[in-house]
Amino acid sequence: MTATLITNIGELTTNVGTPSDPCGTMTDAAVLIESGRIAWVGAAADAAAIPAEGASRVVDAGARAVIPGFVDSHTHLVFGGDRADEFEARMSGTPYAAGGIRRTVAATRAASDDELRARLARFVDELHGQGTTTFEVKTGYGLTVADEERLARLAAEVTREVTFLGAHVVPAEFADDRDAYVDLVCGEMLDACAPHSRWIDVFCERGAFTPDEARRVLAAGAARGLLPRVHGNQLGPGEGVRLAVAAGAASVDHCTYLDDDDVAALAESDTVATLLPGVEFSTRQPYPDARRLLDAGATVAIASDCNPGSSFTSSMPLMIALAVREMGMTPAEAVYSATAGGAKALRREDVGVIAPGKRADLVLLDAPTRVHLAYRPGVPLVAGVWKDGVRL
Ligand code: NIG
Ligand code: FE
Repeated sequence: MTATLITNIGELTTNVGTPSDPCGTMTDAAVLIESGRIAWVGAAADAAAIPAEGASRVVDAGARAVIPGFVDSHTHLVFGGDRADEFEARMSGTPYAAGGIRRTVAATRAASDDELRARLARFVDELHGQGTTTFEVKTGYGLTVADEERLARLAAEVTREVTFLGAHVVPAEFADDRDAYVDLVCGEMLDACAPHSRWIDVFCERGAFTPDEARRVLAAGAARGLLPRVHGNQLGPGEGVRLAVAAGAASVDHCTYLDDDDVAALAESDTVATLLPGVEFSTRQPYPDARRLLDAGATVAIASDCNPGSSFTSSMPLMIALAVREMGMTPAEAVYSATAGGAKALRREDVGVIAPGKRADLVLLDAPTRVHLAYRPGVPLVAGVWKDGVRL
């Protein structure tokens, strides 16, 4: 049996915590990995007792920090082209609007499967290199039955967390008959994508889908066995959060514009508030108020939303730095939200936590503590990544 012992860990974030330390912090710790799972977690001093044949590989962490692999619960990684020109114009004052999605739809439709697959593979390498070991991928840049089906199929080649987002925006060819497009999403398109997908999502926002349309889409997905998640309250206040909670969504994502009722609804539900600070960074919008959500008792995740329009970054360390600097989170809260929080947003029990029986997805930081992820923004601190017990 292949086993790896990581020992001399200066600070271990287990996320098996207590109210005063949700990160479940251990110092001078060690982790034993066997058959892709965590077999044991304890004091480095006790690891010395593990017989040499018990761990065929020993990694000395050099008193540095180890955290769970990042869980990026929100990305849009299958697309063609980019929109650097749109970003450049935005930095000169042009506001972000949902309509830009249609440009990526045109570029994505023009790309072959192999082009999209090759690009996706590069993004996966990019994610792994930055410590992300679990990630979700949405469709939503195809918006025909055939194109959405192939985006879902290609996404399913790299992750089990595939989200059908045919309801991303109404495509140009349906501009005069949006009801017909919603019918298509809820019918033939859903039928084609459901076999490759675990989740259904809808962009409930001005310029995208109305609350009534969103409810229809989520209900159709649920009838096909897909679990709901929602893009809501990104560009302005609205019903997105409340309809997500009412639908029992695992997560409502963005949550930039919330009123007190939204915050209360989130706090009373098990719908995770997923915050995407790369969007506010890249669109010059005000950041969501994570502090308000946490103080109210809501569960918060942070994710990259990596996409060519509103947030073209896959860096979870950057999200942590932004969450701490701009959203009122402590470094510990931000690291927890980028790992265990993401796992909750994906309703996953097997990742986001370093404990016996969980997947051996870990990141060794070139830093003595997790605080450095926010303290040293922009510095590549990922020194080692294990996914399912294998060092990448
Ligand atoms: O999550 N909000 C909707 N969708 C993406 C943006 C997509 C785009 O601009 O291409 C988001 O921000
Ligand atoms: Fe998104």
